[in-house]
Amino acid sequence: MKGRVEVIIGAQWGDEGKGRVVDALGSRVDVFARYQGGANAGHTVIVEGKKYVFHLLPSGMLYPCRVCVIGNGVVIDPEQLLNELRELQEQGKDRARLVISGAAHVVMPYHKKLDTAQENQRGKGRKIGTTGRGIGPAYVDKYSRCGVRVEDLLDGDSLRDKLEYNLDEKNLFLSKIYGEEPLPFDEVFDQAVEWGKALAPYVGDASLIIDEAIQEGRGVLFEGAQGTLLDVDHGTYPYVTSSSPVAAGGCVGLGVGPAAVDRVIGVVKAYCTRVGEGPFPTEDEGESGNRLREKGAEYGATTGRPRRCGWLDLVALRYAVRVNGMSSIALTKLDVLTDFERIPVCTGYEIDGKAEEHFPSGVHRQWKAKPVYEYLEGWKEDLSGCAEFDRLPLQARKYVEYIETACGVPVNLIGVGPGRDQTILRNF
Ligand code: IMP
Repeated sequence: MKGRVEVIIGAQWGDEGKGRVVDALGSRVDVFARYQGGANAGHTVIVEGKKYVFHLLPSGMLYPCRVCVIGNGVVIDPEQLLNELRELQEQGKDRARLVISGAAHVVMPYHKKLDTAQENQRGKGRKIGTTGRGIGPAYVDKYSRCGVRVEDLLDGDSLRDKLEYNLDEKNLFLSKIYGEEPLPFDEVFDQAVEWGKALAPYVGDASLIIDEAIQEGRGVLFEGAQGTLLDVDHGTYPYVTSSSPVAAGGCVGLGVGPAAVDRVIGVVKAYCTRVGEGPFPTEDEGESGNRLREKGAEYGATTGRPRRCGWLDLVALRYAVRVNGMSSIALTKLDVLTDFERIPVCTGYEIDGKAEEHFPSGVHRQWKAKPVYEYLEGWKEDLSGCAEFDRLPLQARKYVEYIETACGVPVNLIGVGPGRDQTILRNF
């Protein structure tokens, strides 16, 4: 029998709690596989009261005897990855076997410099609010076919050749356009060779390993980073990241055909947040938004930036259901809504005075979208100890059921706190 393949995606603007959902489901999974993005992600997992933040490593690293894969679709900052790995090793927590695709691209020092320089150059009103991790420039090189792949780090000649070409060009950009110091070839080359030596034991054929696991009947989980509305094609372009966080990105970013996927689990925060610039129709810049930020500890796991906060947006969520083929919802942070007397939920938009039920394509219409709210009754009870759906207060259950009806997708997992055990599984 073939193994079960599930994809975990962010259904909003990232930071939905994918790491904690992956961790909560981990006992059923044999292979955890990250498929896109890079160290811009920050996946938080809390186990036995201890907090771990993974930027590049898959969130399954804490599970013993599992395989954790970093796929070809990821852009890898080796320094960050090696630091993360070292930290886990020092604590004796690097329990899974790590496999890194040789075809994954490397975030080089010039990508990070270019990311910051380009963001500064954009000026007011044009900034994207990137994480400064070099993600955009690394993907640009990938698609313009000059990028350095992990396998190049293991081959001095190939590395030298690619680096000579790249550094000539990047140094021109850095010095002539952005007024930055050029990077010395020898320093970058030596550093990259060292990275290659350190990464070599982990490099493998990610696609083959996943396929073998599927053929052997083992459970495989594709782990997305960021979220649907940050997708380079389907998000609020140009205020997006440079990869494909949607579920289909999992197949491309790991080398697995779409027919292998059994289930797409969309992680949905019970309200909405966004970091960086761009449209956010249900943003609440008032007192309630501040309350959500403080109660939900909504500060970026990667950059520490305060997240913009607002209400659940069903227009955007139905769109996420469509573009991902979502078949299941994991609803996180329901506990954060406790004590709100009534909870606004956006059921439609008004754009240029007209009702709009679909998420608009095009940032200009997205900026203009005004939310139409329905108000659901809140609850006062503490949810953090609830282990079963039926134990939730009636209004909290109604909130969950309202989402299911509005999206036509079951809510199979509910997060009522950050810990692994604060998870309600429902018909999973
Ligand atoms: P970049 O991915 O660093 O290029 O940033 C592009 C946009 O995506 C910015 O608005 C970032 O704040 C946002 N972004 C990138 N990664 C994450 C994430 O993991 N969570 C939430 N937002 C993210």
